[in-house]
Amino acid sequence: MNVAIMGYGVVGSGVAEVLKKNHDSIEKKSTLGSLDLKYILDIRDFSGDVNEKIMIKDFNIILNDDTVGIVVETMGGLHPAYEYVRSCLKAGKSVVSSNKELVAAKGYELLSIAEEKNVNFLFEASVGGGIPIIRPLSQCLAANEIVEVKGILNGTTNFILTKMINDGMSFDEALKTAQENGYAEKDPTADVEGFDACRKICILASLIYGKHVYPENVYTEGITKISLSDVEYARAWGGVIKLIGRAKKLGENKISAIVSPAFVPRTSQLAYVDDVFNAILVSGDSTGDVVFYGRGAGKLPTASAVVADVIDCARHTSKKRFFGWGDAVPDYVIDHLDAETSFYIRAEAENPDEALTAARKIFGEIVVLSRTGAPKNEIAFTTTTAVERELRTKLETLYMINPLSVIRIIKD
Ligand code: HSE
Repeated sequence: MNVAIMGYGVVGSGVAEVLKKNHDSIEKKSTLGSLDLKYILDIRDFSGDVNEKIMIKDFNIILNDDTVGIVVETMGGLHPAYEYVRSCLKAGKSVVSSNKELVAAKGYELLSIAEEKNVNFLFEASVGGGIPIIRPLSQCLAANEIVEVKGILNGTTNFILTKMINDGMSFDEALKTAQENGYAEKDPTADVEGFDACRKICILASLIYGKHVYPENVYTEGITKISLSDVEYARAWGGVIKLIGRAKKLGENKISAIVSPAFVPRTSQLAYVDDVFNAILVSGDSTGDVVFYGRGAGKLPTASAVVADVIDCARHTSKKRFFGWGDAVPDYVIDHLDAETSFYIRAEAENPDEALTAARKIFGEIVVLSRTGAPKNEIAFTTTTAVERELRTKLETLYMINPLSVIRIIKD
């Protein structure tokens, strides 16, 4: 069977490399004979590249070639990836994608077309790079009710936070180091503002709970406002700050889903996931907690997940694998302000003692935190758990302080 790749960037070139390098062993696994790479589509010039002879610039060559049964989409971005993938599926070709933006925005529609055309649309690499997570969730853990999924879903931000926690680097210094190491893009917005993690939690939540969850319905907060003072207070509290994507079932037709920095206690396995590594903790009603850990990005780890999907497509040409979710429903994801949480609050106060006494009156029980070298007018404390809207209203009434930082706390 012939394969085409759309997008010859880091992941696409990795897919070409793995398909070539492991051609013979892949042939044995596919059950359909060899998987031969026929075209690579990219608008850029790759003169002198090992794959120069099969590089093309016209998408219609792939679309109109009936010998191409599987198309790999590693272009990234929504357009024209969406139009190309939709056309391929409509033409009866299976598609494998690593593009989380595409799956999070258009997953339901593309899965429906795949179903209608009896072909496959697979995207193991879209979440967690080389970590197997989509297939385990849809197959191995299928007997479970998934109570909650939470994870470190973005390697770049985890690298930055690790540098802040372990090396005392400021956010700006750590971001620069991430860029120098090739982890963070020149424009790091999608990573540091949490959009990338948001797309990934949307895909996981859609898969686990069976209805499409769109990124615009998931409250998302990035890590740009985290300071070294917050890192120190998290240490004093007994944990670390991580960017966490979470989704939880609340009832038959309600879930909560959020991406935000969070205090994570040292008793949690997520607290020990450092550098560019990702980890996803799935709580099943029968299995208890299961943790998936590994490299969430990078050329060959991600390519390995893509090629595994290609092999799966080749094994299931006559019989489509049942895989997917239903359409979104209104008000399915609750407003984050209606979810329960507890807060860490750092603030300036002209009179710290009076401010803490007032905080106790308003919030009830609080735990006061301290750090060495704190300015005299700085206070920090954690609250008990309540609905976020109530906590925010209480914070507004605490007029004696000027809040500098409010971070959610994850208990386990
Ligand atoms: N920018 C992403 C990350 C790449 O840092 O995790 C993988 O999706």
